[in-house]
Amino acid sequence: MADTARLLRGRVLSFRREPEGPSDTAALAYHADGAILIDGGRIAAMGDYTGVAAQAGDVPRTDHRPHLLSAGFIDPHIHFPQVQVIASWGAQLLDWLNTYTFPEEMRFAEAAHARAMAPRFLDLLLSHGTTTAAAYCSVHPQSAEALFAEAARRDMRLIAGKVMMDRNAPEGLRDTAQRGYDESGDLIARWHGHGRLAYAVTPRFAITSTDAQLDAAGALLAEHPDCYLQTHLSENHDEVALAAELFPDTRDYTHIYESRGLLGPRSLLGHCLHLSAREVSALAEAGAKPVFCPTSNLFLGSGLFDDAGLRRAGLVNAIATDVGGGTGYSMLATLAEGYKVLQLRGQTLDPLRAFHWITRGNAVALGLEDRIGTLEPGSEADVVVLDARATPAMARRMERVETLAEELFVLQTLGDDRAVAQVYLAGRPWNWGD
Ligand code: GUN
Ligand code: ZN
Repeated sequence: MADTARLLRGRVLSFRREPEGPSDTAALAYHADGAILIDGGRIAAMGDYTGVAAQAGDVPRTDHRPHLLSAGFIDPHIHFPQVQVIASWGAQLLDWLNTYTFPEEMRFAEAAHARAMAPRFLDLLLSHGTTTAAAYCSVHPQSAEALFAEAARRDMRLIAGKVMMDRNAPEGLRDTAQRGYDESGDLIARWHGHGRLAYAVTPRFAITSTDAQLDAAGALLAEHPDCYLQTHLSENHDEVALAAELFPDTRDYTHIYESRGLLGPRSLLGHCLHLSAREVSALAEAGAKPVFCPTSNLFLGSGLFDDAGLRRAGLVNAIATDVGGGTGYSMLATLAEGYKVLQLRGQTLDPLRAFHWITRGNAVALGLEDRIGTLEPGSEADVVVLDARATPAMARRMERVETLAEELFVLQTLGDDRAVAQVYLAGRPWNWGD
């Protein structure tokens, strides 16, 4: 075995498929006294402790009992340059962008600033148990360069892209159709498929891209079909109205992207709150992935995501933080707010489906479920160790908990970074300052 081999003992939880309800325990692998064996950055075995320990031989062992071992969380929509925008007061989307976000993103023109912020951003993800993200960078290629380089240094799985925006943004935050195409192409050549990194072609949204730039994004995707596409769609009523004004010949907001070849199974569409029936069926036909961003949707007053409606139409939804419109890095806290949004919709989010969603479910949305999102042998060893008694309030509540589903609901409702006891990235324990 490689010298990075190790055995982790704890209560092992991993999902084989999406649970159909809170009692569908056949959807999961759960070992009350379990272990995973890590070798060469991957999971070599998962199961009951005695069996895995017998197979492991003489490797270092870490005992995490009574904590839970889960696949690391996946955040499929977050903004790298908004670490210092989060918690900016008093505005809805378009004013929030102009007042807080665009001035802050300007600072990423300085490569030194981007290089200083990249480790801080990834530290924030990891300390909250998030081991993979799909991230928007600023318009400046040096912001993406800094983030990819830091993720590569950590051997962290990351999807990212420099934002393309050539109108309706201040000088200094605009590229051109050609420059956006060239700079994105250079970044794809440098980073896409390098280790655990992948590129997302990232036209910010229809408001900030001309026709020519959306065509350039379509050309990039046609040339690099295994890249992702990430953008925002139908988040806010004023935004939807402005998109209609800017693209008067297009049927609806979705069609702006659809008509330029931007919709496919690797398209991650933030928000999707105010879609018509035609738009929903167009997204379903393309296999595109709506991304539910509950803390952002509540914070910016954008609207209530129709998870059940989209699922009924055959869509596979992801769930994400959308920091800095979102109000926290924790995928647990994101589930808590998601649960409340769905309550207001008359829908529900049971704890098994919730934990599936932030692990294997988001991996499925990214087409990566054979690599991340589970603890199945062969998966990359990104692991989060969870402590459901991390705070006094959680510990008191846990005294009355009898089932795994109840414990997961405590984590989902009360948990945040304090519940993250340890993170392993590609099999190595991650510590602050690594
Ligand atoms: N739409 C376009 N840009 C953004 C952004 O940075 N955050 C959110 N929430 N929506 C957007
Ligand atoms: Zn966003």
